Amino acid sequence: MLFRNSVIASAALALVATMVEAHSWADCVDWRFTDPSKPGWRATDGKCYGWARQYPINSGVSFGGLDSFSPSRHYQQSTSDFLPCSDHRHGVEPGADETRQNPISKAYGGRFGAMAQATPGQKMCVRWPAKNHAKKDEPNNPVMINMPNTILNKDPNQSGFTSANIAKLNYKDCNQIAGDTDRTPCGGCFNVPDGLATGTYVIQWRWMLNQDEYYTSCWDLQVTSKTDGGATTSRLSNSTSIFADLAEDDDN
Ligand SMILES: *[C@@H]1O[C@H](CO)[C@@H](O)[C@H](O)[C@H]1NC(C)=O
Ligand SMILES: *[C@@H]1O[C@H](CO)[C@@H](O)[C@H](O)[C@H]1NC(C)=O
Repeated sequence: MLFRNSVIASAALALVATMVEAHSWADCVDWRFTDPSKPGWRATDGKCYGWARQYPINSGVSFGGLDSFSPSRHYQQSTSDFLPCSDHRHGVEPGADETRQNPISKAYGGRFGAMAQATPGQKMCVRWPAKNHAKKDEPNNPVMINMPNTILNKDPNQSGFTSANIAKLNYKDCNQIAGDTDRTPCGGCFNVPDGLATGTYVIQWRWMLNQDEYYTSCWDLQVTSKTDGGATTSRLSNSTSIFADLAEDDDN
């Protein structure tokens, strides 16, 4: 009896944990489409070239599963301090350690993903898992891409990030996967501001699910000059039809 009750209790706990953990984060911060005329977020639609800080690329966890990983990739800010990037301790739901490293490059390479790179004005795409929140009956608050346009010697506070918004992306631009609204892949694109000096900038992905319920991911962006061969220049054509294409998928 006792055993049975504890089984039921742990099943209930597991369910609560799953529900609590069903929130999103930036899974890839430099997603490049295999065929820019057919943009999409499924593994077959592109490849990732840049990740958030200390992102565990060899975790073996499949897409959308890192919220149940330790440390969790999703981070819910506390309204008492709105710490902009998770430090693995603060928050309503603490996340992985995404504090700025010294040197900044320490958060990348090896067991972590590579740092994103771009040239000024370039288009970049970011991918995230729907985590059940891209369904029709869910609120649809935009993903805010916040990027101060100066090279800073430390991360700004949340007001600094908020006042540096450069794009609002539609959370529900997804390739709906029938029967898996949790791991449905979603994403959006934005342009890196033009006229930036060469150097390393910080970017924040911030999404409000419900009022005052914010999730963030932070990464660094190496901005190279347009003339130094810049590796990544013009690799994405202007795909104005991206959201139209994805909207069609929504009806499937
Ligand atoms: C955030 O940072 C700005 C600039 O450094 C500062 O003026 C402001 O007081 C800070 N706000 C909070 C709430 O700490
Ligand atoms: C992309 O857009 C830019 C600015 O709107 C324009 O100058 C350029 O010709 C476009 N490129 C393509 C391939 O359509």
